[in-house]
Amino acid sequence: MAVEPLHLLFLLTLISFLRSILSLDFVFNGFDSSDLLIYGNATLESRFLTLSNDTTFSIGRALYHSKIPTRSPNSSDFLPFSTSFIFSIAPYKGRLPGHGLVFILVPSTGLKGVSSAQHLGLFNRTNNGNPNNHVLGIEFDVFENQEFNDINANHVGVDVNSLASVSSYPAGYWKISNRGYDLFENLTLNNGVNYQVWIDFSDSQLNVTMAPVGMKRPRRPLINVSVDLSEVLLDDMYMGFCAATGRLVESHRILGWSFSNSNFSVSEALITTNLPSFVLGKNSVFQSKGFIAGITVAIILVLGCSIVIIVCLIKRKRKREREREEMEEWELEYWPHRITYPEIDAATEGFSEENVIGVGGNGKVYKGVLVGGAEIAVKRISHQTEEGMREFLAEVSSLGRLKHRNLVGLRGWCKKEKGSLILVYDYMENGSLDQRVFECEESMMLNWADRIRVLKDVADGVLYLHEGWESRVLHRDIKASNVLLDKDMKGRLADFGLARMHGHGQVANTTRVVGTVGYMAPEVVRSGRASAQTDVFCFGILILEVICGRRPVEYGKPPLVDWLWGLMEQGGLVFALDERLKARGGFNSEELERVLHLGLLCAYPDPRARPTMRQVVKVLEGKVEADDEEGEGMDLYLLDKMKSNAMWSTYSGSLGHGSHPTFDEIRQSLTSSMSLSWSDVIVEGR
Ligand SMILES: *[C@@H]1O[C@H](CO)[C@@H](O)[C@H](O)[C@H]1NC(C)=O
Ligand SMILES: *[C@@H]1O[C@H](CO)[C@@H](O)[C@H](O)[C@H]1NC(C)=O
Ligand SMILES: *[C@@H]1O[C@H](CO)[C@@H](O)[C@H](O)[C@H]1NC(C)=O
Ligand SMILES: *[C@@H]1O[C@H](CO)[C@@H](O)[C@H](O)[C@H]1NC(C)=O
Ligand SMILES: *[C@@H]1O[C@H](CO)[C@@H](O)[C@H](O)[C@H]1NC(C)=O
Ligand SMILES: *[C@@H]1O[C@H](CO)[C@@H](O)[C@H](O)[C@H]1NC(C)=O
Ligand SMILES: *[C@@H]1O[C@H](CO)[C@@H](O)[C@H](O)[C@H]1NC(C)=O
Ligand SMILES: *[C@@H]1O[C@H](CO)[C@@H](O)[C@H](O)[C@H]1NC(C)=O
Repeated sequence: MAVEPLHLLFLLTLISFLRSILSLDFVFNGFDSSDLLIYGNATLESRFLTLSNDTTFSIGRALYHSKIPTRSPNSSDFLPFSTSFIFSIAPYKGRLPGHGLVFILVPSTGLKGVSSAQHLGLFNRTNNGNPNNHVLGIEFDVFENQEFNDINANHVGVDVNSLASVSSYPAGYWKISNRGYDLFENLTLNNGVNYQVWIDFSDSQLNVTMAPVGMKRPRRPLINVSVDLSEVLLDDMYMGFCAATGRLVESHRILGWSFSNSNFSVSEALITTNLPSFVLGKNSVFQSKGFIAGITVAIILVLGCSIVIIVCLIKRKRKREREREEMEEWELEYWPHRITYPEIDAATEGFSEENVIGVGGNGKVYKGVLVGGAEIAVKRISHQTEEGMREFLAEVSSLGRLKHRNLVGLRGWCKKEKGSLILVYDYMENGSLDQRVFECEESMMLNWADRIRVLKDVADGVLYLHEGWESRVLHRDIKASNVLLDKDMKGRLADFGLARMHGHGQVANTTRVVGTVGYMAPEVVRSGRASAQTDVFCFGILILEVICGRRPVEYGKPPLVDWLWGLMEQGGLVFALDERLKARGGFNSEELERVLHLGLLCAYPDPRARPTMRQVVKVLEGKVEADDEEGEGMDLYLLDKMKSNAMWSTYSGSLGHGSHPTFDEIRQSLTSSMSLSWSDVIVEGR
């Protein structure tokens, strides 16, 4: 009888002994390099962990320095654990979101078998979903990837061996309202705010809870899921974090981390104040005592200084006013002025949302009115590299002198903070061309003659960029939304040279393609290098979309160029005309065919076969090159050029058959050496 209690005591002692061997807890309020194993682009910056750095397609991973036991030896039961960490993802306004970060339990160190972007640095295309991965992840994902059945572009998910989560929920937390029921509060993962996460695992129950840092842990978990990890977790695992970026650069930070498999309140030891933040919020430096002391001193200083400054300002303003009176109209013509930020701020009423007239790939565009009544469009571009901006500004000072009736005039610029540039353009009363061609009201729609006229305007503008200045200026992003209409409905090309800023230093780097999906010449996709011919290509696409009233890439339809090419081969090009134009009439089928031929020739895959802008302008104006045979019809000229044997033979050799290759074959042969597929380009296009 006495044996049993003894036996029990022995067992209990053994268990507690084992537990004490296996028990592990740590609290990192900031990391030392010995705390973590760091791989890929993860770095420790002033004791905080940054998982991915400023490069495209970067991967970072950080793991606790040694393996963590998950169960007692020879036992099938997992040890419960509780872990908490603080993370933030840098905000990237006005861009597509990137990818998120993952808390991971993995069997081994290193970065073998992972890829970036949508695979979050956790798996690659082939091993995603493999039951032999032995990976448990809690993802904080900011991209809705249909491949993995993501519920939205801002969710938390539990991943077992696969990025298709076994359970997921929109990011947020449950708040208990005073009425007693639970209220769900959304949180945005990539808005730069620091969030605390709690992950608890016990008896195959996994709970994930999150809240803005500093807030008490919400009682109800965000995710409460029962998972069988017996085939997933090995006896000991590495634990940590990983993140990856795609073509869009972002930054993921881990600011603190606690873990315990014995003491579930260890997360309370995480320091949640005075953490660095991507945004200045209530969790930033503002709470520290030093700050309060500092601010007292600062206020006194500021008061003193402001008196001095006000006096100076008044003096300067007087001087400025005198200067402005002296400023001649010709000055505006020659140099884009550096306009002061307060002037722009006042003109746009503090960049108020009401004044937003457009959102481009690189930022918002505001309408503004300068003192004196001139209407302006203000483009605010952020997150650029210093180098890119410097190069752009160098070009701007020459571009600013580019004055042409078919270019949107650049009035000036202003550099506010690091990485952000403000450009001031003349305001264009009648909006952009795409608003008057696609999906617009009848009354807004441009008729045939207007469309041809605007295309001629744009061609003149591009020709001026290419040949009107001592050095050639490339536009790099010609498309309907970059063609604006002034008060006389004249077409004017906007945003010249801007695309360059995005592409800076990335020439020939295939991972960073500059341009817009559907407008990119094959050689740009291949080499990243823009040329006069790539502008011609874009212009060709512009012609086609404006005449057909169809965007170059539309969901569920073949690409515009392929479709037109097919029509031309069947001699049915006239059927391509915008249905609504057809109804309205007023067009001339001969001209229609000529213009479409021109568009197709411009958008020809081989850059060598494309005409120059000068030739394009001539064709549009109805003149052929003087040295071309006279008397030949325009159509014949174009068709001949398009089908000239010299051109075809370039390909027939490489394609291994003598007959005329199809458009697809040509494109295939041109793109086969590309490291990017067309679908890749479409995914990240803007
Ligand atoms: C990114 O990480 C690599 C190391 O992985 C480093 O060489 C590089 O300097 C980092 N870049 C930045 C901008 O921090
Ligand atoms: C880390 O960044 C560098 C550039 O700074 C890049 O060349 C390298 O491929 C990156 N490494 C990983 C694993 O992403
Ligand atoms: C676990 O099992 C192995 C054999 O399967 C045995 O050698 C070992 O002693 C056992 N350990 C414990 C703590 O029971
Ligand atoms: C994925 O990783 C595995 C190793 O885990 C490797 O064998 C495989 O080739 C990788 N696949 C790709 C597409 O990179
Ligand atoms: C929270 O987000 C979800 C999904 O994005 C949305 O349907 C819901 O309306 C949001 N709720 C609140 C209170 O904003
Ligand atoms: C998960 O949350 C539920 C509900 O709050 C709670 O009953 C359960 O004990 C939690 N499980 C763990 C492992 O913390
Ligand atoms: C947690 O999950 C269990 C079973 O899945 C469920 O019965 C319970 O209500 C959940 N608790 C909370 C707080 O969501
Ligand atoms: C558990 O952790 C908390 C916070 O670090 C600490 O205050 C408490 O004493 C710990 N309890 C035990 C039993 O270790």
